[in-house]
Amino acid sequence: MKRLSDMTLEEKIGQLVMYGKYGEAQQKALAEGRIGSFLNNRGEETQMRQNLALDSPTGIPLIMGDDVIHGFRTIFPIPLALSCSFDLGLIEETCALSAREAAMEGINMIFAPMVDISRDPRWGRVAEGAGEDPYLGSEVARARVRGYQRNDWEDLPKTAACAKHYVAYGAPQGGRDYDGADISERSLREIYLPPFDAAVKAGVMSVMSSFNDLNGIPVSGNERAIRGILRGELGFGGVVVSDWESVEELVNHSIASDGREAARLGFKAGVDIDMNSGVYERYLKELVREGKLTVEEIDQAAGRVLKLKERLGLFGKKRFRIEDARRLSLENLAAKELALKAARESIVLLKNRDLLPLRKGTKLAVIGKLADDRPDMLGCWAGQVEVQESVTVLEGLENLGEEFRYERGCEINSDIEGGIDRAREIASKVQVVLMVLGETSSMSGENRSRADITIPAAQRRLLRSVMEVNENVVLVVVSGRPLVLSWEEANVPAILQLWQPGHQAGNALAEILYGIHNPSGKLTLTFPASVGQIPVYYNRKNTGRPLFKKYIDIQDEPLFPFGWGLSYTDFDYEDLALSSGSPKMGEELKVSARVTNRGDHDGSETVMLFVRDVTASVTRPVMELKGFEKLFLKAGQSKNVQFDITGEMLSFLDENLKPALEKGRFEVFLGRNSVEHLKGYFELI
Ligand code: IFM
Repeated sequence: MKRLSDMTLEEKIGQLVMYGKYGEAQQKALAEGRIGSFLNNRGEETQMRQNLALDSPTGIPLIMGDDVIHGFRTIFPIPLALSCSFDLGLIEETCALSAREAAMEGINMIFAPMVDISRDPRWGRVAEGAGEDPYLGSEVARARVRGYQRNDWEDLPKTAACAKHYVAYGAPQGGRDYDGADISERSLREIYLPPFDAAVKAGVMSVMSSFNDLNGIPVSGNERAIRGILRGELGFGGVVVSDWESVEELVNHSIASDGREAARLGFKAGVDIDMNSGVYERYLKELVREGKLTVEEIDQAAGRVLKLKERLGLFGKKRFRIEDARRLSLENLAAKELALKAARESIVLLKNRDLLPLRKGTKLAVIGKLADDRPDMLGCWAGQVEVQESVTVLEGLENLGEEFRYERGCEINSDIEGGIDRAREIASKVQVVLMVLGETSSMSGENRSRADITIPAAQRRLLRSVMEVNENVVLVVVSGRPLVLSWEEANVPAILQLWQPGHQAGNALAEILYGIHNPSGKLTLTFPASVGQIPVYYNRKNTGRPLFKKYIDIQDEPLFPFGWGLSYTDFDYEDLALSSGSPKMGEELKVSARVTNRGDHDGSETVMLFVRDVTASVTRPVMELKGFEKLFLKAGQSKNVQFDITGEMLSFLDENLKPALEKGRFEVFLGRNSVEHLKGYFELI
């Protein structure tokens, strides 16, 4: 195998080339040692290409990337749903298991976690992130990186995580995927950068540069963003890979006149690997010859790629054999158990007017196409998995031994002849009607922005019509994003947000419906009361006229705020205590409260800590999440919960965007979500 110093310029450039496509040209280039990585190959295909690479003049194995967004073989809830579990350990486990399943098929670079913060549920990719909050987003980023890079196996290639999409891809104008992010430097640093910082601190081995324009310079050609902030300020030393053809797309962005200029700009910006566009393969050599790039610069980028390959154990003595990789197999049961746990913890009870949990044997009708659907339980990026293994809602109920009558009622967005009449007919004869409505998997994810994020019209008509004959409706919402559910919230007695919970969907839902498992998920992305209210998020600024900054035609508050999520039991918060009312700078401050389960179900409760800097030299949000803890409380049990408030938690970026801690009053909110909490304050002196 060649070392960097023995490689020709073309071979070094080859290490900077990644392809998704595989035609004759790629096969030839691979055999000549001029391709360093591929994406979207599995199993025997990975082995075949690895062998070609090993037999090429460089003898250097390939990076094999893939999108393992919420599972590989076993599909877990979409990341947005799983973030609602507020269970970092669980999130980490799902990533570790997914990485193992991917490694079994020869994958060694995982294009996840997506750590983009987003405040716009119209954007289809909110499904892939952890919601709107930079603190939670950072905690989840760390947990996912730890999981994907746990690599607890020997003698086989490891997996690298790839934090994406650097940066501000979650802030497209109007929520339209790929649109530009026109945001302030403050927003960039306070909202969008922190999860990348957290991923870097957790040791993420690669980062993906995003498609979007960032304040006039598309990120995949933005030297300040990549070399300046990511490498210089955050200290990232790993490999930067572009998003799919985003380097060549600098031409469409109109900052490069052609592919050659795009290659120069992308490379200068700090993109090490060009994904699929081929512009590095075509132009980097000429650019070096013309003196526009130097061999030293190419060496640095290729050196980073080779170092990553070494870290992944690709330079082991043994040839990669897919049979060896498949030895990593897990007991299938363990994966199923984890998928079930993850699905249960992700479901959010949005409303419950004494309908849930159902008693066993309740006379039940189930209505809605999505109740008998497998692929739509899985969500985006699950296209290549075993759809047959997905448990439908109907099967979940059957697995519990429940009887029901079922009627589809309508298609996702069109009527079916007689569907509404049949649905009304069965609904009129039962005690409770379960209506499973919402989006298909292909309505969220990449390039799946929606302007109208309500339940599609045909299903809304079905719901209203069924409610005329039986008001005892439990609405189960299937979606990859928050939907606008204003009519439903005002009229339907019980609403469960199922999201797209993965392979174990039906089992998890059935356990929640019948109270075998008490729901504990809490929203990590605000549900708007109307599309016109977007962006609406909890950590907003106050304005000079807080009472007047509202629309005249809709409520000011969102429909369901950040942190919202009910339980079958009642958790009481009392005895908020601060260890000091006037701590000095640098002094430790503890805040505590007592949480009691006053109901008659055992249950889990995520306790949230928010802080507000009341007066500062720059305007601060009305509250910011600074800590959370998930407690399990048996019926009647109490526990004390305590958080340390550190100087770092209270500091912010001053007028010069430098971290600052200022004396003065701080408010503390400790409670169940961003609107229901105990409130205290202290003066930092
Ligand atoms: O990883 C993805 C990215 O999130 C969107 N564009 C394609 C990449 C590779 O599949």
